[in-house]
Amino acid sequence: MTWKRFPGVILAGAAVLLAGACDGGGATPGISPRQMADALHTVLETDRTVYTRLIVNRLAVEEKAIEASEHWKDDKALLLPAQMFRAGATMVREKNAGFSYALLSMWPVNKQNKPRTEVEKIGLQYVVDNPGKNYYAEETLGDTTYFTAVYPDIAVAQACIQCHNEHKDSPRRDFKMGEIMGGVIIRISL
Ligand code: HEC
Repeated sequence: MTWKRFPGVILAGAAVLLAGACDGGGATPGISPRQMADALHTVLETDRTVYTRLIVNRLAVEEKAIEASEHWKDDKALLLPAQMFRAGATMVREKNAGFSYALLSMWPVNKQNKPRTEVEKIGLQYVVDNPGKNYYAEETLGDTTYFTAVYPDIAVAQACIQCHNEHKDSPRRDFKMGEIMGGVIIRISL
């Protein structure tokens, strides 16, 4: 084989590989917005649980080494899990990464966490009315269309209902164990 013909063979081979990578089917299927939202939710949910168990529960409840407080800055304390979640959400928003997320509720302790768009309102009601199910929809805000997913946020511990039911800013005081307290919203621009 001469050096003149060799690159031609490589190029032909590369073209076949590229065609295989771009056709969206076969060996390299694409990921749907729903799969991406579900995957993001798995990571967000897991990170929140890890922070709750390994940081807040261990250091504030078991070891009593440091407090966890809503007023974490003044009290030199740990952030509450919901505050940690919102801090991450705010930072991601600033990165314009093509998706955003939030922990919202129809009965929010912090008014910033109330639903605003129609899909957020419908989705939060849907996860309350349909236990175990998520809500998925497309919505257009401004000139961008989004895939929006809503996942239920459940009172999994006594601390959830105790703190929310007793909080001075809480609009609802009768949360029970296992009840849906709100939802995680994930929005992906299409
Ligand atoms: C020590 C008190 C405390 C505990 C325990 C607690 N929360 Fe919260 N939660 C808060 C505060 C304060 C906020 C508002 C945070 C912010 O500034 O965004 C909040 C926010 C939320 C929100 C967003 C809507 C809202 O109310 O502002 C949801 C949903 C929520 N918490 C669910 C839970 C669940 C589920 C648990 C248990 C796994 C839990 N919380 C445990 C205090 C608490």
